[in-house]
Amino acid sequence: MAKRLCIKTYGCQMNVYDSGRMADLLAPLGYAAVDDAAEADLVILNTCHIREKAAEKVYSDVGRLRDLRLEREARGEGSITIAVAGCTAQAEGAEIMRRAPAVDLVVGPQAYHRLPELIARAHRTKGEALDTDFPVDSKFDGLPAQTRVEGSAAFLTIQEGCDKFCTFCVVPYTRGAEASRPAAAVLAEARHLASLGAREITLLGQNVNAYGAGEGWSLGRLVRALAEIPGLERIRYTTSHPRDMDDELIEAHAQVPALMPFLHLPVQSGADRILDAMNRRHTADDYRRVIERLRKARPDIALSSDFIVGFPGESEAEFQATVDLVAEIGFAQAYSFKYSPRPGTPASMMADCLPDDVKSERLARLQAAIAKGQRQFNEACVGRVLPVLFDRPGRHPGQAVGRSPYMQGVHADLPAELMGRIVDVAITSAHPNSLGGRLVGATEAAA
Ligand code: 5AD
Ligand code: SF4
Repeated sequence: MAKRLCIKTYGCQMNVYDSGRMADLLAPLGYAAVDDAAEADLVILNTCHIREKAAEKVYSDVGRLRDLRLEREARGEGSITIAVAGCTAQAEGAEIMRRAPAVDLVVGPQAYHRLPELIARAHRTKGEALDTDFPVDSKFDGLPAQTRVEGSAAFLTIQEGCDKFCTFCVVPYTRGAEASRPAAAVLAEARHLASLGAREITLLGQNVNAYGAGEGWSLGRLVRALAEIPGLERIRYTTSHPRDMDDELIEAHAQVPALMPFLHLPVQSGADRILDAMNRRHTADDYRRVIERLRKARPDIALSSDFIVGFPGESEAEFQATVDLVAEIGFAQAYSFKYSPRPGTPASMMADCLPDDVKSERLARLQAAIAKGQRQFNEACVGRVLPVLFDRPGRHPGQAVGRSPYMQGVHADLPAELMGRIVDVAITSAHPNSLGGRLVGATEAAA
């Protein structure tokens, strides 16, 4: 009998990729994807552990699913299996089983290739379906090939885990040590994605520019090899560490046209004392120098970053150094967060915690600076012609939304046959989070 699967995804793109792979894994077992958890037989919460708010979400979600399940069972319409996957599952698996007994199974990000077995086990004996191992058998070997690409853009995980141990971050604990997939496996998956219609691939890793798979395979070399794949027109990668921006990768930005002129390069703070307390192992000047090298290689490169405000002991002057760095670099976009102490991390044991109202006030000021930079960047695009990969319908009939090389959303009227294609667009308007424009013609021959 056909079964219905609903996956709710939180957190980063790595989780989006993992959710897709879980759906591919369960499809041959008869699970068809649905959006509404109330209609599903199996609900997977693919969770994030990065900040406290994200991690706590799992408990409220499970509460809602338990109520839905009770209603379903009362109507005699079967039940709902509740699975928790992702980084909160990894970090708090046993606690989730204890605090949320409605959960039928827990599976960590390195073990989800074993989901079919876990689901069967959960149906037989509740309470024994917990798998948060870091198995020696690679999960990638246990997963079937992807079956579809939505909107011509695909994610491809090439590296997981982190050895950097920033003092605020749970990733080294939830995703483990840095590990890279073999280049041959990555290239094979990329070719397969291209054959399914992917024109853009985003390479994913918690520390993607630390990619290294033996025999001299660095991210720079991998990008060059990927650019040779017929049909693949755009390559991106995320997320990076400033210390791993090596010459080979920067050179690829200068020489590989398919490598998009956009880089998400988190700096976290503009103050050296805070960067040191965060164990970032770079100064604000080191960051400036990396940006200089990138801009020399690719003058139009657009930059994005992550920032944490209110790290323990952050003074007003240190916070101001972060705001100043934002104004100085000119980010096309950026994400900013209030510092959230995470269990088991060194920073969570530091003194001088800042009150929440100070964090909120600093966050608002930083976000205003980021928004200003983003507006300026968007406004500077008006009058230019940008190649846009259209991948989804817009709000109005006949309208579509796509991405510029710089990751901006671009709206334009588009003939239906150009959906999923890269088309030149004359930019006519700038908005806080997007651009508007009109087509000037297709950039490629009909495929
Ligand atoms: N508190 C707040 N933000 C955090 N991040 C990571 N850990 C924390 C934390 N404990 C942010 C960083 C990182 C992004 C993914 O999330 O800015 O780059
Ligand atoms: Fe969240 Fe990090 Fe896990 Fe991504 S890898 S889901 S950001 S904790």
